[in-house]
Amino acid sequence: SAAEKGGYDWFMLKEIDEQPQAVAETLLGRYGRSGRLQLDEMRLSDDELRDVDKIIIIACGTASYAGLVAKYAIEHWTRIPCEVELASEFRYRDPIIDRSTLVVAISQSGETMDTLMAIRYARQQRARVLSICNTNGSTIPRESDAVIYTHAGPEVAVASTKGFLSQIVACYLLGLYLAQVRGVKYGDEIDAIMAALEKLPAGIQRMLDEGEQVRKLAAELVDTRSVLFLGRHVGYPVALEGALKLKELAYLHAEGFAAGELKHGPIALIEDGIPVFVVVPPKARDQLQEKIVSNIQEIRARGALTIVLAEDGDDDVVPYADHLIRLPKVPTLLQPLVATVPLQIFACELAGLLGHDVDQPRNLAKSVTVE
Ligand code: G6P
Repeated sequence: SAAEKGGYDWFMLKEIDEQPQAVAETLLGRYGRSGRLQLDEMRLSDDELRDVDKIIIIACGTASYAGLVAKYAIEHWTRIPCEVELASEFRYRDPIIDRSTLVVAISQSGETMDTLMAIRYARQQRARVLSICNTNGSTIPRESDAVIYTHAGPEVAVASTKGFLSQIVACYLLGLYLAQVRGVKYGDEIDAIMAALEKLPAGIQRMLDEGEQVRKLAAELVDTRSVLFLGRHVGYPVALEGALKLKELAYLHAEGFAAGELKHGPIALIEDGIPVFVVVPPKARDQLQEKIVSNIQEIRARGALTIVLAEDGDDDVVPYADHLIRLPKVPTLLQPLVATVPLQIFACELAGLLGHDVDQPRNLAKSVTVE
């Protein structure tokens, strides 16, 4: 009903707007003044966590992209090898897992059948299973050895938004916690990341406040049939998520690519006027940033309409950006949490303009309880 939507036309718009709070709530109470992380529902002992020699993240859909983002952070902080796999693939390939494997299942609903079957399989192989979930008491956390709840509040729109951001935050808390327990020497970095995470809701709010630019862009591109997204490092899963949102909501052909792969195929798709979103890594990552700036040049020379997401003060991109969406300066690992927001708004707006049901896209379900 309209009341439930709190005055918004769509639950999705409401949930996009709730993201600063979803992130803040997911952080709340988990980082003490002592400078130590505390995860109350972490039912695995420190000894068990020290025993972990491999992490496999399993999930479906948008949650799997949260996992792809998390892999960069978890390996960096913990030095534990971390794989990410679609739940529907995991169990059918004879994966190498044992008692020292930590399987991390990410699921907003906690009821996705593929993810559930994957964790059952993992536990049969004696792996320890930790779930990251938004729904208290749902099946996946009940069947896990430990859980970190995201505190995003109920997500109603089929396409996940605040669920995604809070999943990334929860994965980061897990990564930092593992680093802490295992005594990896990233003490300063943990403090800096936690301080940056705590400031993040304000950065997300800014992306919401500046949403009008993206809505105008959606109106300009309402006749487009195909949209590409490029990113590298943690910007790569952001590109995948931007494309998935457009497919789900606007029923458009959309694809996300790792920008470094451009020359191995995707550049052949570039033709006059094709919109390409590019997520530019922070300038502090000079090698990545420079490479992607030259990608933007290349595709623009071939006629692409470039929509560039770049941090404040990155002026290298200005000459090649047909549209420039500014992002607050944040550490690279946190950039997905701000860069995803305009892509969500874009997909939501475009779908609305096309007359689609934003909350309940055709053929899709909020939680897929069949394999
Ligand atoms: C469905 C939803 C997606 C969601 C995916 C995984 O496909 O439409 O928005 O990302 O399931 O759902 P889960 O609840 O496991 O995160």
